[in-house]
Amino acid sequence: ANSVDEECDYLFKAVLIGDSAVGKSNLLSRFAKDEFYLDSKPTIGVEFAYRNIRVGDKLIKSQIWDTAGQERFRAITSSYYRGALGALLVYDITRRSTFENLRKWLKELREFGSPEMVIVLVGNKSDLSQSREVKLEDGQSLAQLEELSFMETSAKENLNVEEAFLQMITRIY
Ligand code: GTP
Ligand code: MG
Repeated sequence: ANSVDEECDYLFKAVLIGDSAVGKSNLLSRFAKDEFYLDSKPTIGVEFAYRNIRVGDKLIKSQIWDTAGQERFRAITSSYYRGALGALLVYDITRRSTFENLRKWLKELREFGSPEMVIVLVGNKSDLSQSREVKLEDGQSLAQLEELSFMETSAKENLNVEEAFLQMITRIY
């Protein structure tokens, strides 16, 4: 980690990845601003947000990058991953295809990300359990197999969002 200024002990970069419409941008707006948008638009290119977090007596400034799940809206992949210490790999528990595609995202992570990157697997939209297409155990087994942390979240109901980001941050520091 880099020391930046007197206010902040560490600055670190993390990235959000996963298929379009799984809720990456809403997880970030929930974490950074405590906001949720029912009618959010697909991300085009790259956006980012900051949040300061206290871990013990250290103040950590997290810079979280968010990009498009849709291939045609994605910016250059290598610069997106450069310097990232953590990643939230997100799927939607109500769409099986977003879980099946995790293989593709993991491949990209291993190709462009640093090998020491802390990865948290996130099954989002846990508020929609009546439309569930991915069992909790499926997420758990994949996480165990790939040695990732795992959590189901709801950006809408603000369930486990803070925990998912904090799990990543505290595993880094
Ligand atoms: P791209 O930018 O295209 O990659 O999509 P994204 O992963 O950023 O998805 P986004 O955050 O824009 O959310 C897509 C849709 O899912 C929006 O209509 C959100 O309101 C909705 N959504 C996001 N999180 C949740 C959630 O936890 N529960 C429910 N019910 N809806 C959610
Ligand atoms: Mg988005």
